[in-house]
Amino acid sequence: MNNIDVVILAAGKGTRMKSTQPKVMHQLAGKPLLDHVIDTATTLKPKEIIIVVGHEETTIRKHYAQTHLTFVSQKQQLGTGHAVSQASKHLTSAKTLILLGDVPCIRPDSIKSLTDCPADVAVLTQILENPTGYGRIIRGDDGSPHMIVEEKDADQKEKQTREINTGIFCVKTPLLKKFLEALTNDNANEEYYLTDIIKYASNQRFSIDTVSPSLDFEAKGVNSKQQLAELERDYQLESASRLMKAGVTILDPMRIDIRGTLTCDSDVSIDVGCIFEGNVRLGKNVSVESNVIIRDSIVKDNSTIRAFSHVDGASIGSFNDIGPYARIRPGTESQTRVKVGNFVEIKSATLDSDAKANHLSYIGDATIGASVNVGAGTITCNYDGARKHQTVIEDNVFIGSDTQLVAPVTVGAGSTIAAGSTITKDVPSGGLALSRTKQTFIADWKRPTKTTK
Ligand code: UD1
Ligand code: CA
Repeated sequence: MNNIDVVILAAGKGTRMKSTQPKVMHQLAGKPLLDHVIDTATTLKPKEIIIVVGHEETTIRKHYAQTHLTFVSQKQQLGTGHAVSQASKHLTSAKTLILLGDVPCIRPDSIKSLTDCPADVAVLTQILENPTGYGRIIRGDDGSPHMIVEEKDADQKEKQTREINTGIFCVKTPLLKKFLEALTNDNANEEYYLTDIIKYASNQRFSIDTVSPSLDFEAKGVNSKQQLAELERDYQLESASRLMKAGVTILDPMRIDIRGTLTCDSDVSIDVGCIFEGNVRLGKNVSVESNVIIRDSIVKDNSTIRAFSHVDGASIGSFNDIGPYARIRPGTESQTRVKVGNFVEIKSATLDSDAKANHLSYIGDATIGASVNVGAGTITCNYDGARKHQTVIEDNVFIGSDTQLVAPVTVGAGSTIAAGSTITKDVPSGGLALSRTKQTFIADWKRPTKTTK
């Protein structure tokens, strides 16, 4: 544990988001903005993480009910300085790091270099091409920061400054407490600005230093849906370039979304429009065609997931060929060389090596043996309206098209089910099961015709 406390500001309304949801609960890369900030803060192993909440605070508190975070309320949103004051009594470490709930992409190494900075006050700043909307760092003749001016309070000259305040500070705690007590609200917004602590520190000759993050978008804040979308693309492009550096082929790095962790072995190829959620692992030489969604799954070496397939909570064996348009649901586990074709849904089922289900089937709560062929339109009737039942199909079974397997039912090894059968009883090994009404023929049948008046 380090001798530092972290305060995360998350009480604001986020008016510019035009949403009933609190701003910090909007998602970036599949998780709330605030989650990103908390995860980053946690890497410092601080003594305490204190989150200042206010607007829609019950939603936020509920979301983090299972965690060890400390929450304090800011009843009225009177500014970022006022927000930090609410956490004051929890600040007991030598230093306090202040993070903003709406600046989610700050990386652990950036805050580490800020907290390592020996100055009394350390500010994370960045030079931006377009600084509009951010507080500007105004440096004195000695080159050190003298104050931060908010966009609304800045004159023309100050607005030219491209060095912006990321909103992230690390301050020696006794000093911070002293400065917070001195804050006033004589500015365009009539708010207690945290940024004024720079002016106080400078006037009183305390040491102030700045540190800059290494990536361009780390400092970007989210105030509008436009900025949220821009930051999502920045974040995704960064994830894509990290994968490409590690050797993954990504056909268009602008068209991939990773909402969690994607781990790839060598020679993986990913086509456009794919989404990876949660924890996904792709083995050697795996190919993912376009518009595939994979969530919390593993795909082993040399397998292909074809276009428009969904794979969720599954373990796909090696040399599998899945899709296009397959839906693989949680609890699916396939062995080697399994083939699953278009419009096949599989749930809580195991498929042994060389099993095939190539067209239009539902396989739920089933055990499919090695080299089984599941014909087109086969359905496991696993649900009786109250309970789920198992279907067991042993090795080398051939199931003809349009078969219904009414579970619980077992089909013995090597048997054949004739097309169109409804199987309600266990089938022994090695024979043919057939359940169809006999075909009849009416030779003199007249097809109805339309009558014209
Ligand atoms: C703030 C900074 C600005 C900086 C920018 C970086 C101030 C005065 N301005 O501006 O210099 O460039 O962030 O993104 O600090 N909040 C509260 N309580 C409040 C007000 C805000 O908890 O009373 C929280 C918000 O929920 C938000 C964060 O503080 O997470 C920042 O507030 P916001 O109003 O977005 O400040 P900016 O105008 O972006
Ligand atoms: Ca902001």
